[in-house]
Amino acid sequence: MADVSLKKVGKTYENASANTIEELNLDIRSGEFVVLVGPSGCGKSTTLRMIAGLEELSDGQIWIGDRRVDELEPRERDIAMVFQNYALYPHMTVAQNMSFGLRLSGMDKAEIRRRVEEAAKVLDISALLERRPKQLSGGQRQRVAMGRAMVRDPAVFLFDEPLSNLDAKLRGQMRAEIRRLHKRLKATTIYVTHDQVEAMTLADRVVVLNKGKIEQQGTPEELYERPATRFVAGFIGSPTMNLLAADVVAESESVSLKIGEVSITVPAERAGALAAHAGSTIEIGVRPEHFLADGAADFSAAVDMSELLGPTKLIHFTLAGVTCSAMLPPELAVREGERQSLRIALDRISIFDPQTGNAL
Ligand SMILES: Nc1ncnc2c1ncn2[C@@H]1O[C@H](COP(=O)(O)OP(=O)(O)OP(=O)(O)O)[C@@H](O)[C@H]1O
Ligand SMILES: [Mg+2]
Repeated sequence: MADVSLKKVGKTYENASANTIEELNLDIRSGEFVVLVGPSGCGKSTTLRMIAGLEELSDGQIWIGDRRVDELEPRERDIAMVFQNYALYPHMTVAQNMSFGLRLSGMDKAEIRRRVEEAAKVLDISALLERRPKQLSGGQRQRVAMGRAMVRDPAVFLFDEPLSNLDAKLRGQMRAEIRRLHKRLKATTIYVTHDQVEAMTLADRVVVLNKGKIEQQGTPEELYERPATRFVAGFIGSPTMNLLAADVVAESESVSLKIGEVSITVPAERAGALAAHAGSTIEIGVRPEHFLADGAADFSAAVDMSELLGPTKLIHFTLAGVTCSAMLPPELAVREGERQSLRIALDRISIFDPQTGNAL
């Protein structure tokens, strides 16, 4: 296993008006599972393809271990990549697909067989080795693609949206399997997805990309609890964080937040970071689970829609002209068209500068 370092990596495609990737610096520790996440077009695949050697850099360097690799051929980089469409050869059996790269490299036949059998066992596809890809389900094809990467025993695994062609249930299963596999192999892994649930469940560290730049990186917990920008706040977490404009008003003993018509008094001992913004308008971010239906209510919301999702009840309401969602206990008796008293867990909110979108 090896460290991977991207040093001031830049990419400008020919005929493109702007840089796709700008001065990207990223250090990945040996054995770490890093997920690159971000909206469509933010440069995730481009970054991965540059590491793999499928795309040239316009700027900067890439190092794997103590080797500079950005000028090496893909096959010299000691990486294996799993693609979204699996890229299996239709005319070859599963075993032939898995062993193809090793056969090209001239590896000893017995060693190839040993590796294929071992990977097949780990992935639970031993019974499928003589089948062709069209005789497999989507999830099985996905496993074969992973097996083909595993037999090469690479220094680094690269995954580009490997689960996006699977249905939701299978995606959940494969996600758990990839996590287990990583625990077992402890291979340095760089995994690209636009699915924040995948990012949060798989990653040791999540790197959020926005327009070719790192917006924030950290553990899933850090990004969820302390998003550095409004963009990250909106991207991580589902349903998404509610963002509301609030005037901060200083009173003699306390601070209050004015959100449209609603005024919420923040007790002095909890005013903390808010007091510093007295007299200005900020943006507050409230996770759906931080609207609470217990204790003294801050406001009463007209419930537009109520959805029972099993373990929680999701309600939608409008606050200061913004459509918000709250996750409440499933047993709560609330119907569409009725009113529900809510309070905001003020000690859990995020606050942002409404101009820059940066956390305050
Ligand atoms: N070969 C290319 N030539 C020109 N522009 C390209 C090329 N490949 C990608 N781009 C552009 O670079 C930007 C980043 O593309 P990239 O494929 O890296 O995005 P992505 O984050 O992987 O998106 P998605 O989630 O949709 O897969 C996009 O604006 C895309 O149009
Ligand atoms: Mg992509």
